[in-house]
Amino acid sequence: MKKVLLFADFGIDDIMAVIYANFEDNVELVGIVAEYGNVEKKIAIRNARYLQQLTGRYDVPLIVGAERPLIGGTPIYYPEIHGPEGFGAYIPSQAVEDGNENIFENFHQVYDVIEKYNKDLTIICVGRLTSLATSFILYPETVDKVKEIFIMGGAFNFPGNVTPVAEANIYGDPYAANIVFNYAKNMTIFPLNVTQRAVLTSEMVNYIDEVNRKANNALGLIIKPMMDYYWQFYKSQNPAISGSPLHDVLTLWAVFNESNITYTYKPVRVVTSFGSAFGQTIGDFRSFVQLSEDSVHRIAIEFDYPLFINRVIEVLTTELINNNN
Ligand code: BDR
Ligand code: CA
Repeated sequence: MKKVLLFADFGIDDIMAVIYANFEDNVELVGIVAEYGNVEKKIAIRNARYLQQLTGRYDVPLIVGAERPLIGGTPIYYPEIHGPEGFGAYIPSQAVEDGNENIFENFHQVYDVIEKYNKDLTIICVGRLTSLATSFILYPETVDKVKEIFIMGGAFNFPGNVTPVAEANIYGDPYAANIVFNYAKNMTIFPLNVTQRAVLTSEMVNYIDEVNRKANNALGLIIKPMMDYYWQFYKSQNPAISGSPLHDVLTLWAVFNESNITYTYKPVRVVTSFGSAFGQTIGDFRSFVQLSEDSVHRIAIEFDYPLFINRVIEVLTTELINNNN
């Protein structure tokens, strides 16, 4: 079982990843860092609290991450993709106390969690890299002890989703991504060109909803409204798409599925200069013996989609219902 410290920005696929992780018995969540990204930081924390309420998992430390990027500008949020509050059309503010109780600062607990689990810890970052980069600046020796780091971000030899060349998690803070990409050891990257194939179709969403409806499971019932909203966005961009990609869920599933994923090792660089390539990830995919001197990382290329999606459906129906009633 993988002990996971998860950094997330609490939009729809992040929320799906947290729900999935809570009921996936190959994963043990030992901490969640909620930060700005798809939604503002305050809402990310509120969403994390709401999930605590729905899952009863108050034992997993909730750590407040970054409020803004290292690039210094005002963060851009994405309500058209993730909804005004990260749950699609659903607004959990009626269900959870808003306001001051969401304003607390405990980032130092990242240090405590890493010290506690040390070389048994897997860090997964599925949001902007600001908080993770901050760990590399404040606690370089501590963060070096972890077993491995997985991130969802970037796009290799493939268009971006925010600009023609940049993917959202990197574009949101390329300075932070640059720090992590330069200093992280044993890092695996799940880029957009791979995660965009992790599609949960509308038929699958309807099946998950039907099973949870029969079991009268409140947590399972938030999946369809969220995923339908997410799909509306993807359909508006690509009318032929049959569902929406679970970028962040795939990255979680990957940590215990080594043999079901194909990887390559390449030097990677993040474009940090302002201009049309800002936030682009450039992997050196030339078939040369001598490649660029950028830090080398493991990059996912392919994964076993049927295995992935069947396990996700199983966790979001059987596992969820059996363990959340
Ligand atoms: C990434 O950006 C966010 O919208 C998603 O949550 C995912 O982590 C995909 O580019
Ligand atoms: Ca995310």
